[in-house]
Amino acid sequence: MAELILEAQDVEFEYPDGTKALKGVSLSIEKGKKIAILGSNGAGKSTLFLHFNGILRPKRGMVRFAGQDVRYNHSSLMELRKKVGIVFQDPDSQLFSASVLQEISFGPLNLGLTEEQVLQRVQQAMAATGITELQDKPTHALSYGQKKRVSIADILAMEPMVIICDEPTAWLDPKHTIQVMELLNGISRQGTTVILSTHDVDIAYSWADYIFVMSDGRVVGEGIPERVFQDEGLLRQADLAQPWLVEIYHEFKQQGWLAKGVPVPRTKGELLELLKRDTPGQALVVSG
Ligand SMILES: Nc1ncnc2c1ncn2[C@@H]1O[C@H](COP(=O)(O)OP(=O)(O)OP(=O)(O)O)[C@@H](O)[C@H]1O
Ligand SMILES: [Mg+2]
Repeated sequence: MAELILEAQDVEFEYPDGTKALKGVSLSIEKGKKIAILGSNGAGKSTLFLHFNGILRPKRGMVRFAGQDVRYNHSSLMELRKKVGIVFQDPDSQLFSASVLQEISFGPLNLGLTEEQVLQRVQQAMAATGITELQDKPTHALSYGQKKRVSIADILAMEPMVIICDEPTAWLDPKHTIQVMELLNGISRQGTTVILSTHDVDIAYSWADYIFVMSDGRVVGEGIPERVFQDEGLLRQADLAQPWLVEIYHEFKQQGWLAKGVPVPRTKGELLELLKRDTPGQALVVSG
């Protein structure tokens, strides 16, 4: 059986004002996978993430890391947070140092590494996120998208086993969205488990190995992207749109441009290959 890195079992959580944000969440995340968590505003994604490194503690239920129940004493939490890094949804709640360089150095300096090792990690993290030229800037003077990339570099430099990114591409321009997703792919290829939340169904569809869908404090569906996004009842329940690739695939099949039984493509390139194969030599005439 696949090795599980994070598990939640019947997790319930209530904020001090009485908001029941998680109403019995159970899920299992396999080590090394690319996981997307989808769900509309207020579904409970960020609240769940804060349980994964012990910032929040369940009112009921259990969180496990690498098969062990999370313990909430200071030293266990410090250990857990070295292994599970969270890039917060709002970079302003994560960044606090004067300059970008100081900000990214802070975590690794506290890991007991040599100065040289720290510098090497920081430089790597800055290069990977494309912020090397911002290193001397004060963090408060950065644009939102720049802050977002600094907050990712912050966690990268810690080299955790699991990287959790809460809406990593929100507010990023198209070029930096692609850059961040490629970066997360690269991190995943090195064996790190990557978990993200997003409202971008196209990104989730093409990027993730496995998807969990949340609605109103619960996990209401899960599966590989092809399955999740063909479950129209689930999409309606969670207020999710279909990715454009899935929509186009169904339309093209209806038009007879794709053979019956062809699998739904995961990328634009796969769709074009299918079209070339199923309609060889035919020009597609789009009327209207
Ligand atoms: N600090 C807080 N105090 C009280 N209620 C909160 C707090 N943070 C979140 N909530 C509530 O908990 C519920 C879940 O919120 P959460 O931020 O986890 O959702 P989300 O899925 O991350 O949403 P979004 O897509 O908007 O980021 C919401 O009803 C929200 O209003
Ligand atoms: Mg959130």
